[in-house]
Amino acid sequence: MTASKFELYQHLASACEALLAGERDPIANAANMAALIYHGLPDLNWAGFYFRQGGELVLGPFQGRPACVRIPFGQGVCGTAAARGATVLVPDVHAFAGHIACDPASRSELVVPLRENGKVSGVLDLDSPLVGHFDEVDQMGCERLAALYVDHHRRYPG
Ligand code: SME
Repeated sequence: MTASKFELYQHLASACEALLAGERDPIANAANMAALIYHGLPDLNWAGFYFRQGGELVLGPFQGRPACVRIPFGQGVCGTAAARGATVLVPDVHAFAGHIACDPASRSELVVPLRENGKVSGVLDLDSPLVGHFDEVDQMGCERLAALYVDHHRRYPG
């Protein structure tokens, strides 16, 4: 299971590189990445981006049910990951104080910051309706996808 999930992320990373190649628009690329992740990984009910505006995160392209638009830095799982500049993996969102429930179906969550030159410019957020769905393979895989996005836009600014 772990090996096959690792391979799934290898495939997603290659597909992501192909999808971004030749396109500079950060919103279009985030939209396609959200769709790629949402349809490429099992048992997700939400996958998408929030981007930093001042002291808060603002909803970006995503797949799933409508979500809360603004999340202050330090609040919720997304704001916590952004404030720490580090990935936050929550096996059971009901046990995370301050979790912001956008879709009540969400039971576990993985949030990876987008880091540019040491600064957080946003987050990649994945939700699952299954408790304990995400593990370290998901964390490494999503950190790689987030890095691909950031590196692409550093090399090819819009
Ligand atoms: N649950 C997140 C909010 C965003 S939604 O999951 C899409 C949080 O606690 O920050």
